[in-house]
Amino acid sequence: MDVMSTMRPLDRVADFPAIPAGWAYLDSAATAQKPKPVIDAIARAYGETYATVHRGVYQRSAEMTLAFEASRLRAARFIGAAGPDEIVFVSGATEAVNLVAHSWGGVNLRPGDRIMLSMLEHHSNIVPWQLAAERAGASIDVAPLTDDGEIDLDAMSEMLTERHKLVALAHISNALGSVLDARRAADLAHAVGAKLLLDGCQAVPRMPVDVAALDCDFYAFSGHKLYGPTGIGVLWARAEILEAMPPWQSGGAMIDKVTFERTTFAPPPARFEAGTPHVVGVIGLHAAIDYVDSIGLDAIAAHEQALVGEAREALSRINSVRLHGGERGAGIISFSVEGVHPHDVGTILDESKVAIRAGHHCAQPLMAHLGVDATARASFGVYNGPDDVQALISGLERVTRIFG
Ligand SMILES: Cc1ncc(COP(=O)(O)O)c(C=O)c1O
Repeated sequence: MDVMSTMRPLDRVADFPAIPAGWAYLDSAATAQKPKPVIDAIARAYGETYATVHRGVYQRSAEMTLAFEASRLRAARFIGAAGPDEIVFVSGATEAVNLVAHSWGGVNLRPGDRIMLSMLEHHSNIVPWQLAAERAGASIDVAPLTDDGEIDLDAMSEMLTERHKLVALAHISNALGSVLDARRAADLAHAVGAKLLLDGCQAVPRMPVDVAALDCDFYAFSGHKLYGPTGIGVLWARAEILEAMPPWQSGGAMIDKVTFERTTFAPPPARFEAGTPHVVGVIGLHAAIDYVDSIGLDAIAAHEQALVGEAREALSRINSVRLHGGERGAGIISFSVEGVHPHDVGTILDESKVAIRAGHHCAQPLMAHLGVDATARASFGVYNGPDDVQALISGLERVTRIFG
């Protein structure tokens, strides 16, 4: 079956040296490939300008500190933060959620309090809350999904009470691609006095994000899904919220004064960045943000939506394929092939040089809700084009031929 493409690709594949010709990389929701400017920035930082930050009295370290802090300002502007002090560098979204669960949760959750999650959350936005709830004697509620695989905010609004202290939701689902109406979620959370944490891992590479317009309280994302390095990510929180949060990890760089009797702590964001930071990761993140901004998040969103539209259309014409989630998915599609385990789908597609993800996508409760153990997932990035959709469809036709 030919995919009738009317769209023009972004044509960015040439920026990505690790994508050989003829390889359809459709696993960007797991991690994005890295463009040359990011690779070059990392190579320069290790090969030419490397030094530690915040401590050195010598010129090189002072310059690296300036570059490090420039990246913080860049990240703040990228997501509409009020200023760089609202940006905490973490190892990724997982660490960001754990930080909030330990620090904010440790002083704000009490016995009898409730936390609202949703059925489609990634494990990293479930398990930290389970542990925080256990520590505090709080409980967890789970907002259901609509038939289209979106978080059902009508149902959530019925469930929310003044005992809810936190609502923590994915801005875009990593398994279904469904996009949350985050502004409405913020209004609903705030109406009962709860804070809203958005897991923005899949949103930040796929759509413009402005935390002020969304009116959320915490926003978490990972650099490696944004075409940047692994091991670096961002927790954003409102300045006054960060100010009131106690440290969670401790050691060097997060203190004000240490004596054996008493230690006082640095103001945010340093209070939450114990130890030597991932200096080069931060530099690479800056390059990644510059890269996506040079293309434009609106253009990336339109590009991925066009690819998803074409892929859904072509997949729906294969009888044995069942699509999960609704049509409004952003850049990510999950599907099952009748009678074929998703791992077999993935393995056979790999033989056709198509890389997809097969598994539970760290969303086991969602899989249980869909009535499956696993799905196959194709996710798109700036380097994908109609050829990749065609390769996916041809590969799936081979899967259906092999399995009869
Ligand atoms: C929606 C979502 N949240 C959180 C995470 C965790 O991100 P990381 O493993 O980079 O910390 C992921 C990664 O797959 C994700 O897709």
